Amino acid sequence: MSTDTRDPNRVLIFDTTLRDGEQSPGATMSHAEKLEIAGMLDEMGVDIIEAGFPIASEGDFAAVSDIAKASQNAVICGLARAQIPDIDRAWEAVRHARRPRIHTFIGTSPLHRAIPNLTMDEMADRIHQTVTHARNLCEDVQWSPMDATRTEHDYLCRVVEIAIKAGATTINIPDTVGYTAPRESAALIRMLLERVPGADGIIFATHCHNDLGMATANSLAAVEAGARQIECTINGLGERAGNTALEEVVMALKVRHDIMPFTTGVDSRKIMGISRRVAQVSGFPVQFNKAIVGKNAFAHESGIHQDGMLKNAETFEIMRPEDVGLSETSLVMGKHSGRAALRAKLADLGYEVGDNQLKDVFVRFKALADRKKEVYDDDLIALMQDSAANT
Ligand code: KIV
Ligand code: ZN
Repeated sequence: MSTDTRDPNRVLIFDTTLRDGEQSPGATMSHAEKLEIAGMLDEMGVDIIEAGFPIASEGDFAAVSDIAKASQNAVICGLARAQIPDIDRAWEAVRHARRPRIHTFIGTSPLHRAIPNLTMDEMADRIHQTVTHARNLCEDVQWSPMDATRTEHDYLCRVVEIAIKAGATTINIPDTVGYTAPRESAALIRMLLERVPGADGIIFATHCHNDLGMATANSLAAVEAGARQIECTINGLGERAGNTALEEVVMALKVRHDIMPFTTGVDSRKIMGISRRVAQVSGFPVQFNKAIVGKNAFAHESGIHQDGMLKNAETFEIMRPEDVGLSETSLVMGKHSGRAALRAKLADLGYEVGDNQLKDVFVRFKALADRKKEVYDDDLIALMQDSAANT
């Protein structure tokens, strides 16, 4: 964890759970819930919180505005389309934050340009006009060419240069439809850094969607190529297949610091708590085998794995459960579990069993495990009572 944002290897974490995450159909959160999540994000060391899309509704405006007023450390950002009323509304909402940011965007790929029916030149003018307007209101302006990964490179360079000249301080490169792949994600950032005049003075961000399951890999590849802000959400919540998961990029940079020498300001021990809370308030449960925060991410059932874990946790775990806010690894008792795990589990429950009794209980345990998916502590206590009564 690093707090020095001037460190060239420091990666800013931009959380958009409350904006892109909430756009997930059915994930609407109440005003109080949004405030609570923003407070947790601020406390865990997220650098920028995208709190909402103020022009979208009165409710969104009120949430962004209250989050801005309550914020302690993080930059509070409001989203705006490339339209003056949107930008004014976003500024109204974030202006009370200690550190406000306006984030304005427009779709630049051929498919997205066709929607407002703007020519390339007309769109370039619109970008210049709206970024200039945002910068006159706020010192911290982020600009995004939506669907950047499907935008012609020459045009992308041209519009990024316009946005920088108009005063954008962060350029975000969205993979809006989760289409890119790691090598291409890195090459795009490298190309922009090399070709766009003025690019070296600003922060490039990566914003990936997970339609092909590559959002985390694409984000990390962009960082290796020079991006210094990752846009992400708790539990990977977001439109369609979701956004890059915050917990995945933070832990990947921590665990594989040897090959990716970048740091974030996030206190990873707060990950599990916020993951559970976001799952509750959004109504989106976390899949059992989800990396880092899934119920099974630190659970072991098979005999070989449990035996290895009992001897040395590093045998089958690449991170410590405490580092993500879990108190311990769980040894799940099921039909694949072995004698060593059964003995350890019984000892946890207060039973010191000799070899003969273990043999008997193990036979009973296997018979039960064949009928049940998981054998709980109460089942083991009952087995011990049966064993004592019948031997
Ligand atoms: O995915 C996307 O392109 C977005 C933009 C609004 C940044 O969420
Ligand atoms: Zn997005």
